[in-house]
Amino acid sequence: MTRKNMMAGNWKMNKTVAEAVVLTQDISNQYDPRWEDVDVVLCPPFVDLKPAKTVLDFDKVKISVGAQDVHWEPEGAYTGEISVPMLKEIGCDFCIIGHSERRTLFGETDEMVNKKAKALIAGGIAPIVCVGESLAVRDAGETEEYVCAQVRAAFAGIDAVEAKDAVVAYEPIWAIGTGRTATPEQAQEVCAAVRATLADLFGDETAQGMRVLYGGSMKPENVDGLICQPDIDGGLIGGAALKASSFKQLVEACL
Ligand code: 13P
Repeated sequence: MTRKNMMAGNWKMNKTVAEAVVLTQDISNQYDPRWEDVDVVLCPPFVDLKPAKTVLDFDKVKISVGAQDVHWEPEGAYTGEISVPMLKEIGCDFCIIGHSERRTLFGETDEMVNKKAKALIAGGIAPIVCVGESLAVRDAGETEEYVCAQVRAAFAGIDAVEAKDAVVAYEPIWAIGTGRTATPEQAQEVCAAVRATLADLFGDETAQGMRVLYGGSMKPENVDGLICQPDIDGGLIGGAALKASSFKQLVEACL
């Protein structure tokens, strides 16, 4: 089974609308038809989604936009939140959920991640489910157990047909924004365990078709060793996604 690689840029809380339009245009200017062999996704802040999408549509490039979070209810009295129908209407194809920054800084729980995953799937947006261990968990030798439990919790009550377009991003917390990347072997080991968990949940065929990404200080200098691993199907990129030149190199490393 050949899976299409994915390179997704998580811009986090960076770029005003004006800045986002410039960066999106810079990335679009680098576009090469060969990029069609990769799912290229830009995940800017909410306010930048529509402007970024407008630039990409105008340029007719095959680059998707994704959100960084979502609420599970379709509408209602949830001040500050954004719903799946709102994202769908502006053309979001993907949405990150369960990022470690949301889990640790904003109290996102496994139960919330599961509700978000279900709402996104029902609304036709593919979730990018983030999982990953802290340094304390790794040092205790409990990485696989911890990460696979996060995967099971995120997909609780979801069947194979519903799950097939979902993406899992393995992002060890100790590697995010630290410049300290997991070695290709460390990343592969956990991504393989994630896939084995997906196979247990959804069967081997579905699991073989689902993308598992690595994230955490992935950059042009270390992408090659990671991307050639059998269970790593691309990257979820923070810092290196904020410059068109480095993002282009990351996309092209997937070809
Ligand atoms: P960095 O690439 O900046 O380490 O961030 C990774 C990340 O958290 C992507 O979601």
